[in-house]
Order: sequence, then C-alpha cells, then structure tokens
Amino acid sequence: MTLDEILGLAPVVPVLVVEDVAHAIPLGRALVAGGLKALEVTLRTPAALEVIAAMAEIEGAVVGAGTVLNQQDWRAAAAAGARFVVSPGLFDGAGPDGPTPLLPGVATATELMDGLSRGLTRFKLFPANVAGGTMALKAFASPFPTARFCPTGGIDAANAADYLALPNVICVGGSWVAPADAVRAGEWDRITRIARVAASLARAG
Ligand code: 3PG
Repeated sequence: MTLDEILGLAPVVPVLVVEDVAHAIPLGRALVAGGLKALEVTLRTPAALEVIAAMAEIEGAVVGAGTVLNQQDWRAAAAAGARFVVSPGLFDGAGPDGPTPLLPGVATATELMDGLSRGLTRFKLFPANVAGGTMALKAFASPFPTARFCPTGGIDAANAADYLALPNVICVGGSWVAPADAVRAGEWDRITRIARVAASLARAG
C-alpha cells in the first residue's frame, strides 16, 4: 500500500508504546474494532519488534513502526512486518526509497524543504502543538502546495477536529486513543469506544 492509502484508512493513527507483547493482539484488535486500522508501534520498548510482528497478523490492521531514528531501525521494522514507518525527523538516508513507505517528522520550513528536496511529500508535523499547530499548517499550505501532513504530538480528542479541518492534513497521530492505564488494566472495550469516536471524526484533507 502507498503511504496515502495507509494514512487514508482512518482520520487517526494511534501512537502506541507497548511494554508487554501479550497486549499486542488484544490492543490491536480493540483499535481495529473501533475503526482505526493503521497502527504505529513505537520502537521505544524492548518488545516493540515482537509487538509489530504479532499485530501484523491481525485482520484489517496495517501495522507500522514509529520512533524510527535511522536506516537500521527502518530495516529492522520492515523485517518484523511493519508496512510503513514514522520518524520524528529526517535521518541520513530518509527518502522515498526504502524498505517501506516513510513518514518523517518536520517542524520548520527549512526541514520541510529538506524533505521535499529528497522527493518526500508526506510529513508528520512534530511536535505539532509546539511546532505551531494548526497555524503552522495553514502557513505551510501556500508555499508548499504539494506537502500534506499527519500532525502528531499534543493532539487529543479535544483538538483533533481542528487539525482534520485543514485541507493539507490527511490524518492526525496520537496516543490518546490507547491510554496507558487502559492498556495495563486490559480495558479493551474502553479502547474500542475511544477509537470509535476518533474514527468518526470528519476530515477535509
Ligand atoms: C509521540 O511521540 O509519543 C507522539 O508524538 C504522540 O504524542 P502524544 O502522546 O502527544 O499523542
């Protein structure tokens, strides 16, 4: 699948920090049941690659890796079954050619121009709330008409709709759809309910 197809699956990409591989399947199923199908598993825990491999088996899920910091992470994530990867920034070798589609983070016009010069046109504005939020995205629209975004960082149920109303926003990313306490307690129905609300958000882009 192309990055546009993956990011187009739902208005919200859950950003997941999974400590226990036993949570992978019920968490992934809970999110997919709520309508969120593209899932970003961050490489921030020792279990992350195993979690990706387990979640990749869930019907309807398109599992990617987040917190990919270099080409080695990228290859490892793809080998584990990630179908896309997300990075907080532009690393050496980040570009359109690699083992999977890549969504790199940018926070400034100069970083965006670096990404565009590498042949990339889809970016994660990161950290979205610090890097200017919806005002930055509006300001980027005119000088950078080919760029489209999945802002992430500080987005939640209260402000997601403001981002999704922008034509250059494809989707948003966020951790609010899988609260750590709900994951720890195995409250999978609660996560499905939160996901369902997120999946029903309207988007303009
Ligand atoms: C992250 O890096 O953890 C993501 O940007 C998610 O941010 P959030 O926890 O503010 O949704």
